[in-house]
Amino acid sequence: MKQIRFLSLTLLGAAFIFGGCNQGAKNKSMIQKELIGTYKGKEVYQMTLKNKSGNVIRLTNFGARITWIEVPDKNGARENVAFGFDTFDGMIKGDPYFGAVVGRYANRIARGKFSLDGVGYSLALNNGPNSLHGGPGGWHSVVWESEIIKNAEFPTVKFSYKSPDMEEGYPGNMNIEVTYTWNDKNEIVIDYACTTDKKTVLNITNHAYFNLHGAGNGNILDHQLVIKASGFVPVDSTLIPTGEIRPVAGTPFDFTTPHTVGERIAENYDQLIYGKGYDHTFVLDNKEEVDASVYEPVSGRLMEVISDQPGVQFYCGNFLDGSKIGHGGKPYIYRSGLCLETGHFPDSPNHPDFPSTVLNPGETFKSQTIYRFSVK
Ligand code: BGC
Repeated sequence: MKQIRFLSLTLLGAAFIFGGCNQGAKNKSMIQKELIGTYKGKEVYQMTLKNKSGNVIRLTNFGARITWIEVPDKNGARENVAFGFDTFDGMIKGDPYFGAVVGRYANRIARGKFSLDGVGYSLALNNGPNSLHGGPGGWHSVVWESEIIKNAEFPTVKFSYKSPDMEEGYPGNMNIEVTYTWNDKNEIVIDYACTTDKKTVLNITNHAYFNLHGAGNGNILDHQLVIKASGFVPVDSTLIPTGEIRPVAGTPFDFTTPHTVGERIAENYDQLIYGKGYDHTFVLDNKEEVDASVYEPVSGRLMEVISDQPGVQFYCGNFLDGSKIGHGGKPYIYRSGLCLETGHFPDSPNHPDFPSTVLNPGETFKSQTIYRFSVK
């Protein structure tokens, strides 16, 4: 990150700092905004948000992404737990999804086809026979407008994007706002708000990868996971839902009580074979405040996930292979990061019995997800 700062100040010479809230003073929250490059003619910024506890997250308007989450372990030692890159170039050419907002349809749509009111739509196929994460030009890959919210109680940044009618094959002009708040309880609060002028489908999420040892420090198989979900969404070999909602009881997908990620991952179970590990949507019970949690006993770091959505995609980095070199020059190796992507189920537009992902003109889709960090 220091490298990005250096580049922005010396090469681009246009870095500037906004006092978000009480900038500069000790134990006060603040936001810094720095120009780090341009992409397709648009300026890309990095925002550094510091809360009153002195903990820092970083965001960028390239893909409205989270690039850094620096939180203490049980001894107070801070370390970044989110995947990202040290340079602008690294970020632009690196993994498309690390920390990004994903849309218009996060996860897969079978064969890139769906219909609304009898009109068929075709999307680019970018994942075998299917369309993944809004297509190659999805929201992870565009430069968003950004605004530091002045006089907010906590450091707050709003990203907005206007997705044009038929962008990546999806109908309707859509306005998307994603607001990140970094509060003093070490919670990243993500608020989504979307509208459309034509009937369309929407599944929006954040695709941060976490490793509570610190990003780049080994794998996540020892992380203890809880997901408050009595059912999950089985998939076929291309990771498209079969339509079944399967009870987790008695399966390696039962995380209603804590289990390490690695404990049952090598079991000879059809869904672990299709997913090459865990890469599935869990159907949230939505009965308790916290929907999922991850605890890493060595550092004592705990991350809790709170969402109002029907599902969470638990992906444990089965496709990471060490070829992406992230923060601090560390390679992101096989299963070195996990994602808990809150949202709807994959391929819902083709499954009328799944919760609906249709958004109509005149409606506002509103949703909130919180990633809360603490130690125990
Ligand atoms: C998907 C994985 C995919 C990954 C890409 C996840 O949401 O479920 O299959 O490889 O995103 O980052």
